[in-house]
Amino acid sequence: MAEQVVAELRVRCETPPSMLREVAVEMAREMGAGLEKDGGSRVKMLLSYVDKLPTGREEGLFYGLDLGGTNFRVLKVQLGGNAKHVVDRDSREVGIPPHLMSGSSSELFGFIASELAKFVDDDEKCANISNGKKREIGFTFSFPVKQRSVASGTLVKWTKAFSINDAVGEDVVAELQTAMEKQGLDMHVAALINDAVGTLAGARYYDKDVVAGVIFGTGTNAAYVEKANAIPKWEGELPHSGDMVINMEWGNFFSSHLPITEYDQELDKESLNPGEQIYEKLTSGMYLGEIVRRVLLKISLQSAIFGDIDHTKLQTHFLLRTPHISAMHHDETSDLKIVAENFEENLEITGTSLEARKLVVEICDIVATRAARLAAAGLAGILMKIGRDHSVEDQRSVIAIDGGLFEHYTKFRRCLETTLGELLGDEASKAVAIKHADDGSGIGAALIAASQSQ
Ligand code: BG6
Ligand code: GLC
Repeated sequence: MAEQVVAELRVRCETPPSMLREVAVEMAREMGAGLEKDGGSRVKMLLSYVDKLPTGREEGLFYGLDLGGTNFRVLKVQLGGNAKHVVDRDSREVGIPPHLMSGSSSELFGFIASELAKFVDDDEKCANISNGKKREIGFTFSFPVKQRSVASGTLVKWTKAFSINDAVGEDVVAELQTAMEKQGLDMHVAALINDAVGTLAGARYYDKDVVAGVIFGTGTNAAYVEKANAIPKWEGELPHSGDMVINMEWGNFFSSHLPITEYDQELDKESLNPGEQIYEKLTSGMYLGEIVRRVLLKISLQSAIFGDIDHTKLQTHFLLRTPHISAMHHDETSDLKIVAENFEENLEITGTSLEARKLVVEICDIVATRAARLAAAGLAGILMKIGRDHSVEDQRSVIAIDGGLFEHYTKFRRCLETTLGELLGDEASKAVAIKHADDGSGIGAALIAASQSQ
């Protein structure tokens, strides 16, 4: 019985190359439709108003705020100018108390500003360096924002685990500025950017061949450099550089080719944003553990595979997190001891048989493999859109990726890389490199703030 459920899952989650190519083609097509007009596609293709990426000549002290990943972060970066290096940096990570993710806007921004105030206070050396000058800050806000300029924009909707109604439609920079003033902080928000945009900017600082910044973390998203004259919905004057960074918000991509199972449908129905962010729900860290939990619950209710157990834990939404399924998926012990430990510690299920534990690893494998292969199809879609999916002499394309899923889930990362190679073919994939951009978006925000204020 349990084996049958898993066999069916494997079939429903299959992602043959032909399907992935369709997904890539549709991603490229949706990108075009989203650039055409607002609302032209589920893939919003938001203008970032970042029209020049870091050159390496940025100089000075900048702060960064990073909200929207697993942790909230405050950082400061001292940029060294021509030497193209970061002279000094410091950062602090703080978990966002869960009640603030669904409270009020002023509570959330108040919390952020108070953490920033503590960080700045503790950093006396930094205060000296700023010499009474107003401190500049780059704000990485990892949600869809309709920008009006590089330093202003209104929240379109929340994604991931956030849901604060009174913030939707509001200017997030104004909210932050008000909260900072209440804390007596004299700081100026010089740039508001998405984490994918920050990752692109941060990675470009070190490598001019970076063409896209991508996040596979709690959520997923991508940003890339588009020719401004290839953006029909762009109404302003064309920027001098001729370029514009686009925040795709590809988490909301949907295609009839996506392999969606009953577990995904139920997860979506019971989520904070039903019908939305379907690609994100198949490929990102917030959801993979939850999909596995749903499959485990089904097999446990329909069979005696885990024995006569109390289902309370297994019925708790989001109890099984992606780091847990990653640990189980990578279990190389002969008796799958790590799987047994995870079951005991997280689900309070003891005495599982080796056979049951093997099935658990298989479920993790099915769910993570589907995610990684669909993720690779998304990357292939971007390369297709910018004409870098085939080899051209002396042309190298680097995709910079950040996020906990990519960084810590080795099998996900390897499968993503192999699948991209499979989709591009031997020749083209020689000219494409995937790079881990560690903390790209924090540095990226500071760099964009620097280039705006200089
Ligand atoms: C971090 C970036 O490294 O990765 C953040 O600095 C980003 O801006 C985050 O949001 C995404 O990963 P996760 O796993 O924390 O959601
Ligand atoms: C979600 C957000 C997006 C962000 C991504 C990764 O998809 O909507 O803005 O970039 O998560 O953090």
